[in-house]
Amino acid sequence: MLIGTVQFAPRYGQPEANRAHVAALIADVSADLLVLPELFTSGYFFQSTADAQAWAEPVPGGASCTWLSEQARTTGTTFVAGLPERGPEGTLFNSAVIVPPEGSITCYRKIHLYNEEKLHFGPGTQPPPVVELTARDGTPYRLGLMICFDWFYPEVARSLALRGADIIAHPSNLVRKNCPRAMPIRALENRVFAVTANRYGSESNGETSLTFIGQSQVCAPDGELLCRAPHVGDSVDLVEISPADARSKRVTVHNDLWEDRAPATYTP
Ligand code: ACM
Repeated sequence: MLIGTVQFAPRYGQPEANRAHVAALIADVSADLLVLPELFTSGYFFQSTADAQAWAEPVPGGASCTWLSEQARTTGTTFVAGLPERGPEGTLFNSAVIVPPEGSITCYRKIHLYNEEKLHFGPGTQPPPVVELTARDGTPYRLGLMICFDWFYPEVARSLALRGADIIAHPSNLVRKNCPRAMPIRALENRVFAVTANRYGSESNGETSLTFIGQSQVCAPDGELLCRAPHVGDSVDLVEISPADARSKRVTVHNDLWEDRAPATYTP
């Protein structure tokens, strides 16, 4: 199956223009799974909670989920994308969705909020999801989902893998340099594929500015880097993978990744 990342620089507060930009980038792309960045509709560095509120959407049912569903239905691609969500009680969440060509949308609310995100969003309280999907050639696969700074907590990738994820989708707005080096380890230690879709460019909240580091990438279960986008620039990067490669957890003749775990010894 063909999977990949869509890297671009969202324009702050311009959801419609950002959706149109993604549509242009993927117009000629045929893939089973495409991962877009975190908060791809709104931009990242909110100047106020009112801004985050203004561009937040109900999930599902908002303009971006509707747009993603239409893209998925017409192309046969499953999309993963981050967006600000307005929850039923008005709480805002930094969320991401899995949008398959058929069937329902799955939403994940980011658990580990980074820095100023805590000023605007509530933390997710539900486990990150693992969803059973089918590639266009009929190959079944299981897709897990986490968002950006969740990478800093290896428990997230581990719990997704323990619950059967073959591929971890990882919409991101990375500003720390370490993640592109860490994700091959997350992939290796869990024997899964990891698909990090990042943005590039800079944003200011009026006081501080942030520069996003690009380098969207796909990592294999053996820790190898299958593709990596540049630090700066629009980029759609695709790789052919076999999700079955994530199903064997054998490390040596005498070591199975899961059988050799010793949770009773892992005291906090
Ligand atoms: C981040 O979690 N967006 C740094």
